Amino acid sequence: MMLMNFSPIALCAQDLSKKGRDMNDKKILIAFFSRADENYNVGYIDKGNTQIVAEMIAEETGGTLFHIETEIPYPANYMECIDVAKKELKAKARPAIKGDVPVEDYDIIFLGYPNWWGDTPMAVYTFIEKHNWQGKIIIPFCTHEGSGLGSTENKLKKACTGATFRNGIAVQGATAQNRQDQARKSVKDWLDKLNL
Ligand SMILES: Cc1cc2nc3c(=O)[nH]c(=O)nc-3n(C[C@H](O)[C@H](O)[C@H](O)COP(=O)(O)O)c2cc1C
Repeated sequence: MMLMNFSPIALCAQDLSKKGRDMNDKKILIAFFSRADENYNVGYIDKGNTQIVAEMIAEETGGTLFHIETEIPYPANYMECIDVAKKELKAKARPAIKGDVPVEDYDIIFLGYPNWWGDTPMAVYTFIEKHNWQGKIIIPFCTHEGSGLGSTENKLKKACTGATFRNGIAVQGATAQNRQDQARKSVKDWLDKLNL
């Protein structure tokens, strides 16, 4: 999707005791990047679209949430954010992130992000490059406004050497934000099919 189509519109690992599914005692991490504030098609939001989906996955799986957050926050204004993100993409930047989580202790990692021009935000690579992905199962999930997963799965496969990938899901951001029953159903159906 073209850039011009988009007009305005911590370490915080959290263990969830609730476990909706039997995951065969596998340790599950849900690591995600997500940005609140102003975004395309949703206006100003308190909680990012990808975070909403991440929390649904956590409720279903009992996994641990980790929010990948940059030390320097992105501008709240959508167009200003676009400018910063575009420069980072062009430079293949690795913006510093807050805190960390021991990925190596987990079996399955759900990795979530918004689609930014067919890629993940560069901060997701900062996170990836801090860890050893050998033997891990990675399940991508993204939110987007038309581009779906794009080529993000292939890019992640290259970045996470030694990991095995399962089928990801793409949820429209505005659906995650404003039609949560619909988004939750998609997430549940996808998890059912993964048969973890
Ligand atoms: C910098 C930037 C670039 C984006 N590029 C795309 C894109 O190429 N394709 C698309 O479908 N959506 C694009 N979007 C929209 C986001 O993917 C969408 O709003 C997503 O749900 C945001 O998730 P978040 O609230 O978790 O950050 C872009 C948004 C931003 C801020």
